[in-house]
Amino acid sequence: MKIAVLKEKREHEKRVAATPETVKKFCSLGAEVWIQAGAGEASRFPDALYEAAGATLSPNTADVCANADIVLKVQRPYLKDEGENELAGIKPGALLLGILSPYNFPQSPSHYAEANITAVALEFVPRITRAQSMDVLSSQSNLAGYRAVLDAAYVYERGMPMMMTAAGTIAPARVMVLGAGVAGLQAIATAKRLGAIVSATDVRPAAKEQVESLGGKFVMVDSDEIKQAETAGGYAREMSEDFKRKQAELVAATIKKQDIVICTALIPGKKAPTLVNDDMVHSMRPGSIVVDLAVEQGGNCTLSKPGEIVDVNGVSIIGHFNMPSRICSDASALYAKNILNFLTPLLKKENESGVLALDIDWQDEIVASTTLTRDGQIVHPAFAKNSAA
Ligand code: NAI
Repeated sequence: MKIAVLKEKREHEKRVAATPETVKKFCSLGAEVWIQAGAGEASRFPDALYEAAGATLSPNTADVCANADIVLKVQRPYLKDEGENELAGIKPGALLLGILSPYNFPQSPSHYAEANITAVALEFVPRITRAQSMDVLSSQSNLAGYRAVLDAAYVYERGMPMMMTAAGTIAPARVMVLGAGVAGLQAIATAKRLGAIVSATDVRPAAKEQVESLGGKFVMVDSDEIKQAETAGGYAREMSEDFKRKQAELVAATIKKQDIVICTALIPGKKAPTLVNDDMVHSMRPGSIVVDLAVEQGGNCTLSKPGEIVDVNGVSIIGHFNMPSRICSDASALYAKNILNFLTPLLKKENESGVLALDIDWQDEIVASTTLTRDGQIVHPAFAKNSAA
């Protein structure tokens, strides 16, 4: 059983899919782990630590991937229509694990199928109790929510907590969080710890109790539609035009009194909902901050730009790429643990030889939800229709 860990090549990506800790665990299970030299450098995991944990290192992608049964990545590999084909060195039938973003790149599953690679999109791990320790969206969003507040505090030219000093009193910052899922709840908790006055909104009524338990004030549109706002999987649905109008009125009335707005609202497989429009930004005081965590999914704020901090009449709109990568050491450590927890139940020692092998129940809910392609076919129901394309 050979496991290959590749160095991430995409821009703005400093994470790595295995740490010395998870390598040690895979080796103790009986796997042979190959790491591309320098793969952990940006996340502060030097090659020497991987070697000490039992890995074999090579600078060469082909050597690392050669005959590997499992290939671990953070981001989707480069495909042949992008100049470099990272799938070329992966053997047919191998398992490829990563955050593969097939909704954003709908043609990518056909490339995995064509290369006969079993592609596993870890962001599709279902939100069930058994899978919590494998949930890469949760582990990464939590850190993104934390980092978003710190990035806002860094750019903000005032203090976050109330400070009573001999020279006068500094008022606490008012922070509003749009979307109270995993990232939003951590943003609320972080802003509270820094001493801000925090409010939040969401379309899912279940979020109210969670926001309030963190000391935030929950504001929400008064509409019967919220009863159907949550899917069976726990995610938000796209709301009606009438709801969107009411929500825009609510956000417009609230936002002008805020110093910092953290946008985290997402709808899986769709463009992020627009929650902060140009007029709302113009209504904010100069010196206020908007952080748009949804910027790479189309943005919650109409004026945010991917990878930029935009200044609109003194309001800074932060649209950093890849927020989890901005806290890469911890993000890598948690992501690597998610992968270890995902793979461990799929690895079994063969009775006779004692050799480690893959033993996968393809009907298992976690496996079936995440497997995009297998045996040269697109098997995930959301993408199977692209098979013929
Ligand atoms: P997400 O990243 O897809 O979306 C972020 C938040 O934006 C969500 O709370 C969503 O309701 C909200 N949102 C979407 N459209 C909005 C709009 N128009 N206005 C305001 N807010 C909007 O969601 P995330 O963070 O991945 O969480 C999804 C669900 O999964 C939550 O219910 C969460 O509690 C649950 N969960 C369950 C886990 C489990 O293992 N049981 C683990 C992690 C999350």
